[in-house]
Amino acid sequence: MTGRHATGGHERRAPAPERVLILGATSDIGRAVALEYARAGSDLELAGRRPEALEELAARIRAETGREARTLYFDAREMEGHDAFVAVLDPLPDGVVCLVGELGQPPHEVADAATVRNLLDTNFVGLATVLNALARRFERRGSGFIVGVSSVAGDRGRASNYIYGSAKAGLTAYLSGLRARLHPAGVHVLTVKPGFVRTRMTAGLRLPPLLTATPEEVARRIVRAQRAGREVIYHRRAWRPIMACIRALPEALFKRLRW
Ligand SMILES: NC(=O)c1ccc[n+]([C@@H]2O[C@H](COP(=O)([O-])OP(=O)(O)OC[C@H]3O[C@@H](n4cnc5c(N)ncnc54)[C@H](OP(=O)(O)O)[C@@H]3O)[C@@H](O)[C@H]2O)c1
Repeated sequence: MTGRHATGGHERRAPAPERVLILGATSDIGRAVALEYARAGSDLELAGRRPEALEELAARIRAETGREARTLYFDAREMEGHDAFVAVLDPLPDGVVCLVGELGQPPHEVADAATVRNLLDTNFVGLATVLNALARRFERRGSGFIVGVSSVAGDRGRASNYIYGSAKAGLTAYLSGLRARLHPAGVHVLTVKPGFVRTRMTAGLRLPPLLTATPEEVARRIVRAQRAGREVIYHRRAWRPIMACIRALPEALFKRLRW
């Protein structure tokens, strides 16, 4: 599962993993990722804060695909429990896809300490603690994959969501370092940077249709990229050059953009 497999322009894919842990399985993209893996032949460990929603998804997976689906309580902000959460995973899954995230309200005023802390913990700190615990077990085993769903918002801080964006920037940098750290152990790390996706998180926002993906489309791309050993993907693909241009804008101009 390490490295990118390319043959004559075609990506070679590793077989579907036997068992995948989904953190944030109640997210719209997470549900679609779980179903995509189950249809490919994987069993699932579905982790999140809402047991009923997880059970509903597990039942759907069993009914539609015949695969095994187990549910686990997980809260990204309860960090002192993360080592124990990972220690009891038996069998240890082949890999993890982490979709936990919270955009927060658009700042009508500069956010207070509790709001800042919550957004940084949910989008970065609590993900680094749980993924590090998984990384240690994968490293010892000498195999595994870690897929982190970051965001284009982490490529440059914007006025409208800079706390979320800075947490995503931290997550992107964390995944980059983790990839280098785990590469010698044969553990693959994939960073996913979606642009706009039509989900609960973006409900009510006006999104440009050509740059806006469905959760199912993102899920197919994530599973394909993981199985092909890709390292960093943007979805939709047009976001890669768009973000290169946005990163290149001079600060004197960028600070005047109200977005
Ligand atoms: N939608 C977009 O346009 C977009 C763009 C770029 C990146 N992303 C990223 O894609 C990922 C999935 O988002 P989505 O669009 O599918 O949104 P979503 O449906 O709102 O999903 C957010 C997920 O995060 C979970 N979560 C929030 N706080 C948590 C906590 N403290 N502990 C555990 N789980 C927690 C939510 O759990 P509950 O169900 O319990 O609330 C939910 O499963 C996120 O990381 C998001 O930042 C989305």
